Amino acid sequence: MLRCCTVCCGAQDGGSPREKSFLLTSEWYTEAVIQMDRAVRRLEPWKIAVIVVSVIVGLALIIGLITFLLCHDQDRYYNASFLITNVDYNPQYERQTTEEFRNLSEDIETMISEIFRGSFLSKRYIRSHVVTLSPDPVGVLASVVLVFKFPSADSEEATWGQVNRVLLRRLRATSTFLNVDQSTIKLTELNKEKGDNLLNNCCGIRRQAFSSFTGVERITGGQGAREGEWPWQASIQQDGTHRCGASIISNTWLVTAAHCFREVKDPRRWTASFGILLRPPKQRKLVRRIIVHERYSDLLTDHDNDVAVVELASPIEFTSEVHSVCLPEASHVFPNNASCFVTGWGALENDGYSVNLLRQAEVRIISTEICNRRQVYGGAITAGMVCAGYLDGQVDACQGDSGGPLVNANSRGIWYLVGIVSWGDDCGKPNKPGVYTRVTYYRNWINSKTGI
Ligand code: ARG
Repeated sequence: MLRCCTVCCGAQDGGSPREKSFLLTSEWYTEAVIQMDRAVRRLEPWKIAVIVVSVIVGLALIIGLITFLLCHDQDRYYNASFLITNVDYNPQYERQTTEEFRNLSEDIETMISEIFRGSFLSKRYIRSHVVTLSPDPVGVLASVVLVFKFPSADSEEATWGQVNRVLLRRLRATSTFLNVDQSTIKLTELNKEKGDNLLNNCCGIRRQAFSSFTGVERITGGQGAREGEWPWQASIQQDGTHRCGASIISNTWLVTAAHCFREVKDPRRWTASFGILLRPPKQRKLVRRIIVHERYSDLLTDHDNDVAVVELASPIEFTSEVHSVCLPEASHVFPNNASCFVTGWGALENDGYSVNLLRQAEVRIISTEICNRRQVYGGAITAGMVCAGYLDGQVDACQGDSGGPLVNANSRGIWYLVGIVSWGDDCGKPNKPGVYTRVTYYRNWINSKTGI
């Protein structure tokens, strides 16, 4: 068509300059179309297919990225503080691990969960965690971290407004036995770093939800752990080789078994590593000091007082994958048959090798009375020990798990150290469950050495 036009309308000399330029442009355009036509004809079908596919993939990626940025959920942290007027301050509220702190926190967290779960934010609410309970002339001032998931496209002001509105309105309407002074409720948004820090500094918290493990296998041969599942687990290593497990109880202190240091006591030959893999670990620290229980004896085989604390040369950097477990109060009683988890890099079977990926197994507390029966350990279990496992055998800790944690979660989902892997007759044999150092029994000793 264009060609025809050029021929019919402009193929004469002596046209106006405007006509000439039109002629040149159209010729150039015609030529370009011909060239393109040839180029396309020269293209093989597979090349065309590749071009079409790449264009489609490119577009899909761009659209995907835009939707991801707009609809992707993001954790948002808030700090809520308010005054509770019908509870008197108790000095026991100063420490997070006391029974008193635990009870009041549980009531506060339940109240807050009920408020949000019953609101239009129920799908956005993740958890609340009491961080401090401080004294006030007319009661107790609670400071709580709230975690929500909001689409990243939602503005910060808007989501803060929603959370604040629900908190104010519902706190007034909820009938709980806690009396909250409405005028004191203050909600501030925390940045991710601040929120993460506050939660990571609380003991016994697991940051992600992990589907529960129906542990029927040994620790050994059992299920591999996922990063962040047992963030307090440490490996203590002699000249760079894994020897024992340990538990983080603060950023500079670990608790472990005394028998780990039977041969080598020099702290300069020991290091500690953190994270679920032995190689490569998430963090590694030098050891400054090893304090073994004064009444532990390398010579005796009665395994009494099998506890030690290890001071690190520099503080651990707490993250959601590496942080501390809570120590129970000395008076706390973990009931018989309570479900606990034991974790470690220990052998898959008696006299086997350590593994590189942390493993876990669910075991149950066995009463000392049963554990001391003639066919079990025939009286070898003393007051500083606790048995856990199954009389049928199969699930157990093993060599290399020593010093590692036996933990139990309370109703708030906070994990406490129940025991320290100490000894056992073989691994997973019927009537020979694992024997652990009883942490409540040595709670005051641990405090006297570490101040924790
Ligand atoms: N003493 C062993 C160690 O050094 C731990 C034994 C635990 N045994 C057991 N069957 N639970 O690693």
